[in-house]
Amino acid sequence: MRLLARTVRGIEHLVAAEVAGIGRVDRIRHREVWFTAPPTPAVLDLRTADDVFLIGAVCRGIGRTRADLARVTRAAARLPDLAAVRARCGGPPAPPCDSPPATAGPVTEVVASFVGRRNFSRYDLEDAAGAALPGYVSRRRSRVPAAASSWRLTVAGDEAVLALRVGGRPLHRRPYRTRSVPGSLHPPLAAALARLAGVTPAMTVVDPCCGAGTLLLESPGCRFGLDESRAAVACARANGLAAAAVADAGRLPVASASLDRVLVNPPWDRQATSLGSLAAEPARLWHSVRRILRPDGLVAAVLAEPDLPRCLRIRTTVRIRVAGRPVHLVLAEPA
Ligand SMILES: C[S@@+](CC[C@H](N)C(=O)[O-])C[C@H]1O[C@@H](n2cnc3c(N)ncnc32)[C@H](O)[C@@H]1O
Repeated sequence: MRLLARTVRGIEHLVAAEVAGIGRVDRIRHREVWFTAPPTPAVLDLRTADDVFLIGAVCRGIGRTRADLARVTRAAARLPDLAAVRARCGGPPAPPCDSPPATAGPVTEVVASFVGRRNFSRYDLEDAAGAALPGYVSRRRSRVPAAASSWRLTVAGDEAVLALRVGGRPLHRRPYRTRSVPGSLHPPLAAALARLAGVTPAMTVVDPCCGAGTLLLESPGCRFGLDESRAAVACARANGLAAAAVADAGRLPVASASLDRVLVNPPWDRQATSLGSLAAEPARLWHSVRRILRPDGLVAAVLAEPDLPRCLRIRTTVRIRVAGRPVHLVLAEPA
């Protein structure tokens, strides 16, 4: 089956590495990894992908003009019925063949995006595809009620792809995340950071500023979360991170040279504020991290700028974009 995984911009190669565990990567393009895999629920186990779709149609010749939208409508009219394959992949069940047509009918939505300048809007694209889809409800003016079929339409260069969401809801919406704190990380990005750090189940991992616990909940290993805020610790526990405690990341109650990995999304970003000793001296975090890491340990961090004090040596930097802003995933070792 041909599928595509949607990704945060910049981590396509990390998603491709995870996808390679369940299928063959065919192609990587802007925020997408195309792959071939057997239609099994394993496709819904991908952690680094924002969402996963079954490819229904690929259509070329999409330029900048509104006249090109007719090609999208024609492609949508020829889409195969993917309901049974979607069910085999762990998606919503396909309706039985002999079921009578429902009076109101199941709702179909189309979510479109494109790269580059065009003389049409994403709603024009969505409506062009929707014109050929039974049960289509436009997002142009109203909220779409819960859709039975959600199609993703992306256009890059002159190519459009129409793909059906496999899951009943977006993959990045994790069931465990019942609560969050300001600055909580997007779960697929947290999973990508854990993969970048090469965390394995045998390792001991700490997040010294754990917030809602996302980084650790997306990571294997023996996990401990610490945070100066009691509310954040309560939130992490509510999300399922049992080993979470109040502590100041500038004075970590952890033995020296004892940890395999530190994963961290520090607070001096725009959303979360520094507390305790980090309020006056943010660099204390890195000296604490350096102290608790084993000599062969690694720290992986989400940073606005890829700068670390000299006690840590940067190995890898991955530049990504989150909500239109550049952010960096940084992997570093003790210097
Ligand atoms: C950006 S949030 C972390 C979000 C978390 N990675 C997640 O995705 O849920 C930063 C966290 O740092 C915590 N923090 C601020 N100052 C701290 C300090 N001195 N020691 C430990 N944690 C601190 C804040 O309470 C906040 O929860």
